[in-house]
Amino acid sequence: MTSLLPEGERLRLLDVATGTADQILTLMDAAPRITEAVGVDMSEGMLEKGREKIRARGRAEQVQLKTGDATAIPEPDAAYDVCTISFGIRNVENVVAGLSEMRRVLRPGGRALVLEFSQPTARWFRGLYFFYLRHILPVVGGWFSGDREAYRYLNVTIETFPSGDAFCALMRTAGFVNVRAIPLTLGIASIYLGDAAA
Ligand SMILES: C[S@@+](CC[C@H](N)C(=O)[O-])C[C@H]1O[C@@H](n2cnc3c(N)ncnc32)[C@H](O)[C@@H]1O
Repeated sequence: MTSLLPEGERLRLLDVATGTADQILTLMDAAPRITEAVGVDMSEGMLEKGREKIRARGRAEQVQLKTGDATAIPEPDAAYDVCTISFGIRNVENVVAGLSEMRRVLRPGGRALVLEFSQPTARWFRGLYFFYLRHILPVVGGWFSGDREAYRYLNVTIETFPSGDAFCALMRTAGFVNVRAIPLTLGIASIYLGDAAA
């Protein structure tokens, strides 16, 4: 993902639905150009674990975590160079409202990067993958976690969530330009990129 960051020597990053801040820490390690970061998540429990990780990694001066909803990000307009969300947008009830908030907090020319499960387009692989999601993952996941239903829910949300061009259309609706999808691992996940107009 670091090769997709916008230009600039000192970047301010906002990570939405940050969970325990893994995305922030990974990006900061890989891209020292990110000098400051804020993570927002609706779960204070996740953020508390994230704060422990941030302290352990010696990043407390650079990274702040805040409670907040993706559809009402508690940050000012145009304050960030890059805004990310990984495996979070699928959980946001109003996807366009969440994406519009990401655009609002970006400076002109800033960039949004969305990492999310997607649906493979190659038919041979799509069939195999959906069979795995519907019939194998819930059983194996259920053995380990004791919660087969959670894995059934995962398969339904992955199969019904907008993918590829359909997700790009939502990003354009939210006001992004230069939108594109970058499929990863035969399309089981994708990075969606969009810029705030300069
Ligand atoms: C699957 S976790 C991903 C966490 C992290 N981004 C990662 O990749 O490790 C999804 C996260 O989204 C958060 N979340 C779900 N809906 C949200 C919303 N509307 N606003 C903010 N956070 C939300 C959850 O609390 C959870 O931490």
